[in-house]
Amino acid sequence: MPEKNPTFVILGATGDLTRRLLFPAIYRLFVQNEWPVQQIVGYAMEKWERSQFLDHLHTNLKAFVTDFDENKWEKLADTIQYQSGDLTANSLKTLRNFVQGGAIFYLGLPPQLFADAAQGLGEANLNRPPDSGSFRRIVIEKPFGWDLESAQALGQALSPWWQEDQVFRIDHFLGKDTVQNVLVFRFINRLLASIWDSQHIAQVQITYAETLGLEGRWRYYDQAGALRDMLQNHLMQLFTLVAMEPPSEWDADILHDHKAEVLRAVRLIPSEHVDDFAVAGQYTAGEVEGKEVLAYTEEEGIQADSLTETYAALKLYVDNWRWSGVPFYLRSGKRMARDYAEIGVQLKSVPEKLFGAGLSNWLVFRMKPDEAIDLVMWAKKPGMELSTEEVVLTAPYKKAGERDYSAYEQLLLDVLKGDQSAFPRFDEVEESWRIVDPVLKSWKTQKPALYRAGSDGPSAQDGLMEGNLTWKSLEDPT
Ligand code: BG6
Repeated sequence: MPEKNPTFVILGATGDLTRRLLFPAIYRLFVQNEWPVQQIVGYAMEKWERSQFLDHLHTNLKAFVTDFDENKWEKLADTIQYQSGDLTANSLKTLRNFVQGGAIFYLGLPPQLFADAAQGLGEANLNRPPDSGSFRRIVIEKPFGWDLESAQALGQALSPWWQEDQVFRIDHFLGKDTVQNVLVFRFINRLLASIWDSQHIAQVQITYAETLGLEGRWRYYDQAGALRDMLQNHLMQLFTLVAMEPPSEWDADILHDHKAEVLRAVRLIPSEHVDDFAVAGQYTAGEVEGKEVLAYTEEEGIQADSLTETYAALKLYVDNWRWSGVPFYLRSGKRMARDYAEIGVQLKSVPEKLFGAGLSNWLVFRMKPDEAIDLVMWAKKPGMELSTEEVVLTAPYKKAGERDYSAYEQLLLDVLKGDQSAFPRFDEVEESWRIVDPVLKSWKTQKPALYRAGSDGPSAQDGLMEGNLTWKSLEDPT
């Protein structure tokens, strides 16, 4: 059960993250009687009255929540306070009027302010619980740093004030139910244990393809690019779930130890051979879902000579006993052919003399557009002839009518419970930056390969493939 009646403080409460993602999740939990928070305190620079803050939340909730219920909102609103101020300790001290026992500080702030906020809260003595039965936690959202150096600097800025068990780093992919199922499915089915290694697995492909473009986020995106936006965090976390060693128990620290260990075993990409391990792409004009779309460099706010990658692919090798020689491919892009996401694990082919070449099985965890696990097998084609055909055994993930938690709801409940298993630990974040850092450095001055909007990505991605392996097509992934 979540701990009883803490105060939930949102720093940056008037910002975009709070209105679009955080509050709709809080509202949905409240409506389902799953929100054990006594009091929410919004804190931001705007010198608003409480009523102004409530009006702002009300307008936005109506826009972002389906089945909005005025009565429920009024009850939730009764628990909401507002305090204006900046991130200095002097100003943050005013929060002591609201915070006595357990409290969560949610930083809905631009990442460059995380260090100041964490320090300010510490200096205002809001970081230490008043007694051992109580807690103080801080929640931050990716990006955790901009490269290895800044991630380490952020870690150092936080650590004098906040212990690791107080810090909850949100990577919303880890709140997705199908993502959590990867671990459960892997470690609960004996059938998989005996094939989960380089003797049986030919390759792993983790694909997160989006038809979306910039959606007005050009200021952030043109600085970040696909490698920082998707691969360093979300896809790298998916990779750890596939590649980590089995934990002995379902314990946050043990899970993190194993995830960090596999990240440490990833071979460093040599800075002089980045192109052998990574491909950057940028979309040109094209057609996505029947609509003409502009090239990246024609989008609002983007310079014609922008080098930002809107597609990134990485090939990783894990230098340990289990995975020696198995390539792990991670790729994600904007304005791709389809909205499609999966983790695909391809088994090695059977000896080809018996039934021909290239017959291999895939185990696929599908995340988008629908959630399911597919096992792609081969069987005899019915009829007189001895020929084979592919058969797909599909286990749909959700049944109709089951309560559908958003990733945010799931993660908020975990923060309230104090369960850190779905939040990357600092060493995982640091290792992920170590892996992508040589690529970031090399891409700073390199023009990305072009791909047509609405396609599967740049043809240069094929150069990453080992031997006779191929990328799965987005149109027909099975
Ligand atoms: C975010 C990225 O972290 O994840 C976005 O910043 C991306 O660029 C999004 O679109 C994808 O996640 P989801 O859950 O919306 O598919």
